[in-house]
Amino acid sequence: MKSHYAIEVVNLTKMYTPRGKPSVHALKGISFTVEPGAIFGLLGPNGAGKSTTIKILTTLTPPTSGRAVVNGFDCLHQPLETRRSLAVVLQQNAFELYLTVLGNLRTYARFHHIPRKEADRRITEVLDQFGLYDERYTHAIDLSGGMRRRLQVAKAFLSGKPVIFLDEATTGLDPINRRTTLSAIREQASKGSTIVLTTHLLDEAEDLCDRLVIVDHGNIIAEGDLHEIKRLGVPAYTLNLIFRNVSPQTLQFLKAQNPLHFKHNDTAADITLQRSHQQILDIIGELDRHHDLVHFEVHTADLEDVFIDLLSRQKEEPV
Ligand SMILES: Nc1ncnc2c1ncn2[C@@H]1O[C@H](COP(=O)(O)OP(=O)(O)OP(=O)(O)O)[C@@H](O)[C@H]1O
Ligand SMILES: [Mg+2]
Repeated sequence: MKSHYAIEVVNLTKMYTPRGKPSVHALKGISFTVEPGAIFGLLGPNGAGKSTTIKILTTLTPPTSGRAVVNGFDCLHQPLETRRSLAVVLQQNAFELYLTVLGNLRTYARFHHIPRKEADRRITEVLDQFGLYDERYTHAIDLSGGMRRRLQVAKAFLSGKPVIFLDEATTGLDPINRRTTLSAIREQASKGSTIVLTTHLLDEAEDLCDRLVIVDHGNIIAEGDLHEIKRLGVPAYTLNLIFRNVSPQTLQFLKAQNPLHFKHNDTAADITLQRSHQQILDIIGELDRHHDLVHFEVHTADLEDVFIDLLSRQKEEPV
C-alpha cells in the first residue's frame, strides 16, 4: 500500500567511510514523517546530518541502514520513481554557468519533460516570483551569489514536483529577496507541494515550518510543531519594564529574582527569568503594587533560545 506520508524515514543510519580517513557516523538511526503539503524544517548545528538526510532522500547517496520513502517510493530500491517525485536545491549550487538565466530554466524544463507551452508559462511565473525577469538574458556566471541562489530555487519551483527539498535555500539572500523566497515557498506549499528545508536562520524556521526536527550529531533531539518544541526548552520569559524611577529597592527586588539576564538604566529594566507563567504574573503584580511600574511587556523564549538550550543540554548529557 502506498504510504500516506509525503516522506517517511525509519531508523535511518549513514556511515561515511572516506578512504584513508576515520569513518563518520553521520546519522545514527533517525525516524520522522512528513505530511503531504507540509513545510517541514530540519534544524541543527554544522555537521549535524541535515544535508546527509537530504542526500539520502534525494537518492544522491545510499543509506547504510534503515528506510527512506518519498512520495511512496523507496529511495534505495526505487530511485527513478523517487527522483521523478522531487526537486532539490542542494547546499552547493549546481547549474549551467555558461547559459543565461532563461537558458538554465528552459534546459531544466526540457530535462523534466515539461511541454514547451506549459514551460514558458511557468518560466515567466518563476522569473517574476523570484525577481529574475530583468536578468533573464544574463549568463549565470555573471550573476551575484544571491541571484544564483534565487535561480536555483526558481528551478526547483518550476518543476512542479510534489516534494521539494531546499538545503539552505535562503543562504546569502538579502532581506528583501529572502522575504520573496519565503513567500514563494509558502505559496508552493499552499498549492499542495511538500517542502523540506534546512536552515540556520531560526526566525525563518519559526516563520515557515509546520513541523520541525532538531538534529545533533546524527540524532533527533527534538521534534514537533513550534509550540511543542518551545515547551521542551526551559521556560524563560523576558520582561521589559518601565518605571517612574528605578529605586534601589526595585533593583534589589529584581536582582533577588536570580535572573538569567538583567540590565537597567534609571527608568527601564530588561530581565529574563526562568519561571512559570503564574510566577511571572506574581512578580509583575508585586512590581505594580510596590515599585512604581509604569509599563511592561512580556516575551516568551523564541526558537533560538530553545535551540541553544537543547543543544547545551545535549552536550552535558553523555551519549
Ligand atoms: N562525503 C562525505 N564523506 C565523509 N564525511 C562526510 C561526507 N559528507 C558529510 N560528511 C560528514 O558527515 C557529518 C554530517 O554532515 P552533513 O553535511 O550532513 O551536516 P549538516 O547538518 O548538513 O551541516 P551544515 O550545517 O554544516 O551544512 C559531518 O561530520 C560531515 O563532515
Ligand atoms: Mg548541510
